Amino acid sequence: MSRAIGQASGMTELTNEQIAETLIYPYLNHAVKFLQDEYATATDIDNGMRFGCGYPVGPLAYLDGVGAAVVRDALAARFAQTGDSLHKPVALLEKIADQGGTFHGSVDAEGATAPELKHDIAKIGVIGTGTMASGIAQVFAQAGYDVVVVGRSEGKLDGVVGYVGKNLDRAIAKGKATEDDKAAVLGRLAGACERSALTEVDLAIEAIVEDLAIKTELFAELDAILKPGAILATTTSSLPITRLAETTQRPGDVIGMHFFNPAPVMKLVEIVTTTHTTADVDETVKALTAKVGKVGVSCGDRAGFIVNALLFPYLNDAVKLAEAGLGPATIDAAVKEQVSLPMGPFELLDVVGNDVSLAIEKELYAEFKEPGLAPAATLERKVGEGKLGRKTGEGFHTY
Ligand code: 3HC
Repeated sequence: MSRAIGQASGMTELTNEQIAETLIYPYLNHAVKFLQDEYATATDIDNGMRFGCGYPVGPLAYLDGVGAAVVRDALAARFAQTGDSLHKPVALLEKIADQGGTFHGSVDAEGATAPELKHDIAKIGVIGTGTMASGIAQVFAQAGYDVVVVGRSEGKLDGVVGYVGKNLDRAIAKGKATEDDKAAVLGRLAGACERSALTEVDLAIEAIVEDLAIKTELFAELDAILKPGAILATTTSSLPITRLAETTQRPGDVIGMHFFNPAPVMKLVEIVTTTHTTADVDETVKALTAKVGKVGVSCGDRAGFIVNALLFPYLNDAVKLAEAGLGPATIDAAVKEQVSLPMGPFELLDVVGNDVSLAIEKELYAEFKEPGLAPAATLERKVGEGKLGRKTGEGFHTY
């Protein structure tokens, strides 16, 4: 049986460099596995982490900088200690290390032509009123699109306007926007409590609760409401988009647009196609993503897509390292100091929410069945205690 992350000897005496290596090297290995599996291109894997999580470089470029052999050797030594298959250098890492090669120099092949809008997109529908829905509505309204937000109550719709208004006030205070800009953006936002308000939208993006039964019910209804040819997008981070597509009569028009938190700031959109998604819809969504100032990466319909599947095992490992006796603040500081990430793992867990993180980790564990992906006991406990992060005032840190 493999040992838990903290059971390798002396974990509480690690230097900042060792803490960072303990957490980052398995993540690098995992990124190489994605490339090896041809799940995504090297550029999309790196862009995912850069623009989704604000990392200064993506994992494969980072590996090229450190040297594949250095990371391979450190992981091999670690695997000998832990027996955790996630620490075993993957075949492509071994190969590049043996060749003294690089990931970007040798493996990547990029398409050249810019995507085009194959559908006319003028009006956007957003379904949901939470943080992600509010941020997505802001992104489209700021880019000049008319947006109709559908929520369950006037109070929740007011919350969306409040969120967008607050963000714009912050931009005004910094001299980055004017009162006129704010009025124009808010003027492009409309709210409705009835889904029938979506009949005229060219693209509807769903950002409601992560519950498959609720989403499938919504998709069936949207399919009946939306005009023919309208694109039906979901920002789910963990549910199978293929299942959502198959509840509609327009599976070719269904696609994932996975935004990151906070959506107005993080530049990434993971564009997730299913086997049903048409090439025109894929290309239109890619072009639209670029038009609203975001960076799109392409991936298939698999748990965690690119970013969450790389990010959450690393966050989970950080919790396991804390279980071995290191303080969350120590780990946060070490990672920020050593690899210049914008937030330490516990700061980020508190932003995302421990409940959301636990749900994503459960999905990853269920799909990939790696013992090392089993959610850390402390994360389960925090959720049980209602310590969900910033939103409840306490998670791994107190606010
Ligand atoms: N909403 C809107 N704008 C915000 C914001 C928010 N909640 N928080 C910060 N901002 C804006 C600020 O106004 C500022 O804008 P400006 O550059 O135009 O002035 C900019 O973001 C930078 O903010 P600050 O200077 O106050 O703060 P930082 O420099 O600390 O940056 C951060 C904040 C951009 C959030 C940065 O810490 C970061 O990149 N963190 C990583 C976040 C991350 O990894 N997100 C992904 C989580 S996983 C996920 O979302 C997937 C899902 O499926 C769970």
